[in-house]
Amino acid sequence: MIDNNTVQKIIDTAEIVDVVNDFVSLKKRGVNYIGLCPFHNEKTPSFIVSPAKGIYKCFGCGNAGNSVRFIMEHEKLSYPESLKHLAKKYNIEVFEKEQTTEEKEKRSEQDSLYIVSAYAQKYFTKILHENNEGKAIGLSYFYERGFRLDIIKKFELGYSLEKRDAFAKHAQKSSYKLDYLEKSGLVIKGNNNLFDRFSGRVIFPIHSISGKVIGFGARTLKSDKKIAKYLNSPESQIYHKSNILYGYYFAKQQIIKTDKCYLVEGYTDVISLYQSGIENVVASSGTSLTLNQIRLINRFTKNLTIIFDGDEAGIKASLRGIDMVLKEGLNVKVLSLPTGEDPDSFSKSLNYDALIKYFNNNELDFIKFKTKLLQEEAKNDPIKSSTLISDIVKSISYIPDNITRSVYIKECSTLLNIKEEVLYNTLNSFRKKNLTNEYKKVKRNERNQSKTTSAPLPAFIDDVYSKNEEHEIIYFLLNFGNEILYPANETKNNDIAVAQYIIDEIQNEDLKFKNLIYKKIFEDYKYHITNNINIDEKYFTNHINKSICTLSASLLSKNYKPSKIWETGGIIVETPEKSYKTDVPKCIITYKLKIIQMALRHIIQQVKEVQNNDENIISELQNKIKVLNEKKILLAKESGQRTILYM
Ligand code: CTP
Ligand code: MN
Repeated sequence: MIDNNTVQKIIDTAEIVDVVNDFVSLKKRGVNYIGLCPFHNEKTPSFIVSPAKGIYKCFGCGNAGNSVRFIMEHEKLSYPESLKHLAKKYNIEVFEKEQTTEEKEKRSEQDSLYIVSAYAQKYFTKILHENNEGKAIGLSYFYERGFRLDIIKKFELGYSLEKRDAFAKHAQKSSYKLDYLEKSGLVIKGNNNLFDRFSGRVIFPIHSISGKVIGFGARTLKSDKKIAKYLNSPESQIYHKSNILYGYYFAKQQIIKTDKCYLVEGYTDVISLYQSGIENVVASSGTSLTLNQIRLINRFTKNLTIIFDGDEAGIKASLRGIDMVLKEGLNVKVLSLPTGEDPDSFSKSLNYDALIKYFNNNELDFIKFKTKLLQEEAKNDPIKSSTLISDIVKSISYIPDNITRSVYIKECSTLLNIKEEVLYNTLNSFRKKNLTNEYKKVKRNERNQSKTTSAPLPAFIDDVYSKNEEHEIIYFLLNFGNEILYPANETKNNDIAVAQYIIDEIQNEDLKFKNLIYKKIFEDYKYHITNNINIDEKYFTNHINKSICTLSASLLSKNYKPSKIWETGGIIVETPEKSYKTDVPKCIITYKLKIIQMALRHIIQQVKEVQNNDENIISELQNKIKVLNEKKILLAKESGQRTILYM
């Protein structure tokens, strides 16, 4: 238990902008700050931080709260853990009463894994600096590699003794449970013995984005080729390799400041560049970038430079992975180092000024880089050239922004000496394919999704307003929000209430109510549900907002009859009290159908207005029509309605 005075002190000190800034790049907007929401995936910022009120709020997903809440949500920590996290950030001493063993056991597995990992890091670091074997073997290895002491300390490097169970024994003596030692992967259980996973290796702790140790990389010092050079922590509740970038915690500030991020391959590359003064550097640790890793970068900057070492074959293999980065809308540059150099070796051969100068002068725009690289290869070989063209245009087809795409087409046309028109033809067939693939993906997700949600809308639908349906949905929310819609079953642990269903449906679609009053009610309701706060009808009829009072009073009155817009000419036999179970899902489906209908009308209008019969635009629009029509059929099937297609 943390005592009240300490709690108050933490809350008073933890300034919201400062706290959020550790995780989200914020820009000033009047008296507030704005950024990309870290709680849902978005491309335009709707996450607002108000320093005056001490709160954050996302207008996209509705997540909101104060500094402590932010840490709880973002770091998935309990309330006391979040307080401690903030206390550490602001050097506030925490007075706490000693925990009983029972209390200790109650801590969640996650907390325990954090604790075990922090303990292990301290142990390995202590061995490196204080133990004879650690100093003679581990520390001297780092010195030989040219790492400075301050850097060794900053990255919390360590050493695991040669003796096979040195750490396991020590940890158990300090009463750490074998269960967690094993789950963290630090200790492996044999038949009769325990083994340290990393014995005889130097240790690179891996930090979460807020600086907690969550896993380890460990390098052998033996030159035996049969031994794996690096061993890494296995996946655990706290360590998910694909969600983390090595060095991110240390690089964050500088990524924001320079509005740029360098990506390298390994632990030592990150550390060496950092030591040379290039601090905005991260590594994906031996694998190609994952979507989550790209999004981590995207939170702070749109400018990514990937540093390649090694041979051309290696570079070509990694080029494919980059398409995903383009899809996410990043500006990608590529820097290849002189033959035989990696960032680690190269950074040691130059001082900071020379290094940054080399980087700035030699980084190449990705598309140009790819074009040049493949061009050399395809010289005078017509078959290879045509694969080359489609390879490059395919990359371009992933770029979300129209203007950027056409700039690249222009450049490629010049570089490859091919007419723009020809490139556009290829581009369009790729874009068509991409759209269809996206559609297939949506379908696949549908199949995997539980039956309780209806078919989602294509992502390109935007800004469509359907007032009656919004009204009807709010009616159900207010009148039946707490009623069970789908009871728990074998696959679902919890009952799903009407409110939860509606919120999930609207949120999954990234749909936003356009009517401001409905929107307020919806957001308010959602806030309560997400935070597990009970809500009853009085809440809205007594709302401080006058219009909300009036509207909810009218919707809740016994005299109000829903229009049953979703009923297509059927005779209403049941009262809404009984029929909400079928009416709510139908109402949602009707809402989606209506939105699709309006989007279709809008696109068809666009087709009519296309200038000069531009085929590129027309074919893109026709694709959208196709996707929408297919979606319409799906939804109509779900609701049992007949449907008219637009061609
Ligand atoms: N890696 C790994 N497992 C291996 C080999 C490599 O996880 N068996 C990852 C590590 O993150 C490593 C990166 O791939 O840092 C790059 O590998 P490599 O170039 O072999 O290692 P370096 O970082 O260059 O290490 P060193 O300079 O110490 O040889
Ligand atoms: Mn290396």
